[in-house]
Amino acid sequence: MTDNTEELKAKIRALKEKLSVTVVAHFYQRDEVFDMGDITGDSLELAKKTMADDSEFVVFCGVGFMGQSVKVLSPEKRVVMPKIACCAMARMIDSLYFDESVKKMEEAGIAETNILPITYINSNADVKAKVGKMGGMVCTSSNAKTIIETALEEGKKILFVPDRCLGQNIANMMGLKSAVIGIDDNLSDADIICYDGFCSVHQLFSVDDIRFYRKKYPGILIAVHPECDPAIVAEADFTGSTSQLIKYIAELPEDQKVAVGTEFNLVNRLRPKNTYVLSSTKPECPTMNETTLEDLYNTLKSIDEGEPINEIHVDEETRKWAKVALDRMMAL
Ligand code: 13P
Ligand code: SF4
Repeated sequence: MTDNTEELKAKIRALKEKLSVTVVAHFYQRDEVFDMGDITGDSLELAKKTMADDSEFVVFCGVGFMGQSVKVLSPEKRVVMPKIACCAMARMIDSLYFDESVKKMEEAGIAETNILPITYINSNADVKAKVGKMGGMVCTSSNAKTIIETALEEGKKILFVPDRCLGQNIANMMGLKSAVIGIDDNLSDADIICYDGFCSVHQLFSVDDIRFYRKKYPGILIAVHPECDPAIVAEADFTGSTSQLIKYIAELPEDQKVAVGTEFNLVNRLRPKNTYVLSSTKPECPTMNETTLEDLYNTLKSIDEGEPINEIHVDEETRKWAKVALDRMMAL
């Protein structure tokens, strides 16, 4: 920790004392930024805890869709982001690509009235709004299985956007059939029809990495996030969202080795011994890493000076329908 870091942290603490602000930080943030969080967690926890918070300003250290979701759920809050960094997966779909996906399903013989869309929370508000309008809802990696189970009760085909892997993994877990738009021909045979988006960070883990660790440390456990490819999930001992991974690893005996397939900053913070990153590369999320301590300080300073920077705004029509999709998830 450099003097400069400690100095900045002290200034940030002083501004937090002075202002009506809550600093929110996702688990994937840099350590020094994460340390400054009043509310920390995975995407579902952050959405819930921030809704219950009553500060005037939410300073969200994460990626764009997360700050946007807070604004959609609590429009009375002023949401600012030290960096409006956009999750690479969320950028893979917009409302036009969403409409195109519905069209492709119709061309495959599935009537629009027979489609129930579900969007992973890693999507922008315009996509969530489309989903809300069509009667669908949002899910996160923690609750995707419950949300899909509930959705299937309507007897419709699920259009799952934007993460192909999460959709396929949940389908495999539930013994259902999945297909990917633009890749598979048999869309109408599938229960869950996935958009072909993915997380570039979670694509870094390979079956070879798993084999390497199993050979090097016999008895090691492999724990991965469901954004990993289904081939990785098939060979893992445990698959779970960020918070589920944290809980699983915390409950392991101290001498149990585990290799973890998810973002580097989180894995690095998990436990000091017997924990390995399931990759020969450093799987950092570039957009999560964009936010620095200096950005956080500058944002707080801008609030103090009465000219907040990077404030999140969502137009009312988009907000209304995106909220419908988020509220349906919250209700479950
Ligand atoms: P969580 O829902 O587990 O926080 O995941 C968010 C994310 O972006 C994972 O890559
Ligand atoms: Fe998006 Fe992947 Fe980064 Fe998560 S790890 S924020 S899904 S790019």
